[in-house]
This record gives sequence, C-alpha cells and structure tokens, in this order.
Amino acid sequence: MIIGSKKIYYEKLSSTNTMAATLIRKGNIQEGTVVHAGYQFSGKGQAGNRWESEDGKNLLISIILYPTIVKADQQFIISKVISLGLVDFLRQVTGNIFIKWPNDIYVKSDKIAGILIENTVIRNDIEHTIAGIGVNINQTRFSADIPNPTSLKIITGEEHDLENCFSSLTKAIDTRYKQLLYERKNQIDKDYISSLYRFNLWSEFNDNKGIFEGKIVSVTDSGRLQIEDRRGRIYEFGFREVDFL
Ligand code: BTN
Repeated sequence: MIIGSKKIYYEKLSSTNTMAATLIRKGNIQEGTVVHAGYQFSGKGQAGNRWESEDGKNLLISIILYPTIVKADQQFIISKVISLGLVDFLRQVTGNIFIKWPNDIYVKSDKIAGILIENTVIRNDIEHTIAGIGVNINQTRFSADIPNPTSLKIITGEEHDLENCFSSLTKAIDTRYKQLLYERKNQIDKDYISSLYRFNLWSEFNDNKGIFEGKIVSVTDSGRLQIEDRRGRIYEFGFREVDFL
C-alpha cells in the first residue's frame, strides 16, 4: 500500500488540506500519508467555497502524494485517479455513481463527495499533491444552501462504519494510483470518460453566451470539457466556464 501506509487522525482541526500543507512544510512526510479528521472548523471546498460536514458523520481526508511521474501540464490525471478511486469505492456499496466533470462525485443527480486537489508546482514538475476528499457517509440533514447533497445513509437507509469506509476508500484509491505509476494511463482515461455524468447524452448547458443544447464527447488531457452541439461543432470549456442545467 502506498496510500494509507501512514494515517494521522485529528478529532477536530481547521481543514485536513491545511494540516497536510503544514506537515509537508515541516518535512519528512512519506508519500501516501493520509490526514484524517472527525470534524473541520473551516473545511475548504472548490473555488473558495466551504465544505460542510457534521461532526463524526463523514469521511474527511487529505492524501499526500509526490507524483514525480506526472508533469504539471498533465496534472488533471491526478484528479481522474482520485475520482475513480471514489467511484470504485462507492460502487462496492451502491449503483448509479458518476463523475460530474471535473471531479464531483454523484449518485444519480445528487452530490455525495467532493475533491479539492492542491498541487504545488515547480516549473513543469509537481513537487507535492494534497488530495482533499470529503465523502458524505452518515449525515442525513444538510444546510439549505447546499444545492443537491446526498450521503450513503440517505441512499441505503443504513448507518455505515466510518473505519471500514476509510479502509475501502484508501485501498480503492491506492489501486488507481498504482495504475498511474505503472503507466496504465489509457485505462484511467477510458474509465474516467465512461463514468462521466451525462456522457454522450443530449442535455442543456449554460455558458457565458447563454443556454445551449449539447452532449459531452470528451475531456482533454489538460482537463477541459468538450461538448458537441446539434450542428456537430465542438466547444471546449475550463472549470467554471460552463454549468450543467
Ligand atoms: C468541493 O467543493 O466539492 C470540494 C470539497 C472537498 C472537501 C474536502 S473535506 C477534506 C479536505 N479538507 C478540506 O478542507 N477540504 C477537503
């Protein structure tokens, strides 16, 4: 095992990503170390949002990686690896799991997990990666301002053991990370595309020019989403440049 070879648990902290960064700064943190918390005072979401999680109900982890094999301009592959690890873990429990581009994890049309990857880049190399993951496990009530949350308990009606979930999730991500290290990038790309939410389905999107109909046809190596319109033209979008309606 690389991922989960070392675990550091905190009952409460500000954010596992922030703690991981502090530990890396202090030095000597081995690859695959997982920072795990029961509660975060200021859990970080994408784009400066906060990540809500009730005390002791969910999985809140950050994985420290040194992916020397990945060049900075190809860093989106790390996002794919982590997303697929989550998908593999969740598919052991339930169905209808998708990756909503770029890396939200959905059950049907609801979000069950979020990923916040923070890469520190020097020239075209990644010095280290902090892969922050929040998975809703046993929480059943969420703030009204969270758009479409769900959890394993909401879906299955049962309480899930957090320790078991931790082991299964880190194992699943470890397997995917090894695919990356052993150069099985094609498999990662293929599985990522086939797990995409609304892949190849005509549906409505919204960009800075307004609402349009299209279907997702691919994601570039740099992580840009490709959508084809009814006239066969393909448009590319970066993160937050397009909304799914
Ligand atoms: C998102 O907005 O979807 C990303 C959410 C990422 C949340 C996780 S919880 C563990 C880790 N620590 C943080 O502060 N954020 C990530």
